[in-house]
Amino acid sequence: MTDTTAETGTGAEQADHERPPEPTIKDYRQRYETYAAIPETGRDRAEVLAEMRAMAELEAARWEQGYASGSVYNGDPDHIAFLNEVYALNSQANPLHTDLWPSGTKYESEIVAMTATMLGGGGIGDGPGSDTGVCGTVSSGGSESIQLAMKTYRDHALATRGITEPEMIVPISAHAAFDKAAQYFGIKIIHIPTGPDWRADVAATEAAITDNTVVMVGSAPSFPHGVVDPIEELSELARARGIGFHTDGCLGGFVLPWAEKLGWPVPPFDFRLPGVTSMSADTHKYGYAAKGTSVVLYRNVELRHHQYFTITDWPGGLYASPSFAGSRPGALSAACWAALVSTGESGYLAATRAILETAGRVKAALRADFPELEIFGDPLFVVAFRSVDDTLDIYRVLDAMTALGWSLNGLHRPAAVHLCVTQRTTQPGVTDRFVVDLRAAIDEVRAHPTAEGGMAPIYGMANTIPERGLVAHAMLDHMDSWYRLP
Ligand SMILES: Cc1ncc(COP(=O)(O)O)c(C=O)c1O
Repeated sequence: MTDTTAETGTGAEQADHERPPEPTIKDYRQRYETYAAIPETGRDRAEVLAEMRAMAELEAARWEQGYASGSVYNGDPDHIAFLNEVYALNSQANPLHTDLWPSGTKYESEIVAMTATMLGGGGIGDGPGSDTGVCGTVSSGGSESIQLAMKTYRDHALATRGITEPEMIVPISAHAAFDKAAQYFGIKIIHIPTGPDWRADVAATEAAITDNTVVMVGSAPSFPHGVVDPIEELSELARARGIGFHTDGCLGGFVLPWAEKLGWPVPPFDFRLPGVTSMSADTHKYGYAAKGTSVVLYRNVELRHHQYFTITDWPGGLYASPSFAGSRPGALSAACWAALVSTGESGYLAATRAILETAGRVKAALRADFPELEIFGDPLFVVAFRSVDDTLDIYRVLDAMTALGWSLNGLHRPAAVHLCVTQRTTQPGVTDRFVVDLRAAIDEVRAHPTAEGGMAPIYGMANTIPERGLVAHAMLDHMDSWYRLP
């Protein structure tokens, strides 16, 4: 792992030659054959592997060296090699076929139970893994966990309260997956604003409750600003009215419990709050599993039943499936289980300490050395900042950071950028490099305020065009471009 500026500390320019490349799809199309049909005869495996290895190595440079916000949360080469070995052992496994792969059932039930215990489910009923404790399922990622939970509340409310026009109350800062769920499952979504501290507004939430409310939501923490919503107050509002409450711990579910144990100030957010009836927590983020798994949890089995799918008169037989997919990648569940048990509490505590200390250094440097920037709230490990100087366009700063090798997240409404600190960011020299590069990026933007290209004009357009349909249409075109062959 090379660090480009830690020793020199002399700014971004000197390190330019060592910066990781930014490969593009155009480069690949020029370098390798593009297939619109299956080749007539199969290609040599060694040649295929060599081509794929070349792309993977090129792409790894940025995240390995800590230039990425979020994305790869562990990234240690030994950890990755271990997960790959587990994957290889289980690559044919499909948890749908419990008879062929009982190991898949063992892994998934234990992933769910371990996550439920970590998130305050230990003292409820006979505990996780019993028929009376906090329960759940494994899913393919945070978005699926959230969508499963929202569908569950819709169906539960129809069955138990006869609600046919369901509504969900969601802070504007919650992940887009809630809007996606609303769209997919025909639930009306009511967005509530955040307060001056960027946390969900409790009074506005209370005012939004109607007889059709099936679920209320809070994030721990939110993706954009990394702050934890007032889950205790919000979940109490829900509980008092017999409404479900979902804590989205996709990002923080595998950080906050350890942060709390380490003595960081963590507001209550999990099943220890009686009003919290479901949670999502992503094993493929800070659980350090391979990409493709997450956990959705429910306070009781009755609620989980509304997630399940069964059909009793299909000619293909009696069919039951717990989540959206039919066949599922058993190897990913196996690798997830292996990540949890091999990391262990000691591993999560050590990783969390390093992440929180690193984020603390980033926050301190921003506050001390960047009077032109302002941090949103007081986040633990996702540091969002915006320009307080009208003459400094934060999206141009984002572009200048991209040119220096960084992959940060652009936010809008309001315009801002965030760095989600991972184990990659905790490597020696990465925060120093971030600070040096950010200063260089700001100086560059001040020197060339009218430069063209990058994300700045796109965000500028998205923020100024009042007709959202036009913006959405541009996004559809953009997605089409992902599938267009030359
Ligand atoms: C708070 C939060 N919820 C949900 C998600 C969605 O997770 P995924 O990208 O795995 O679908 C994310 C992703 O960053 C997130 O930060």
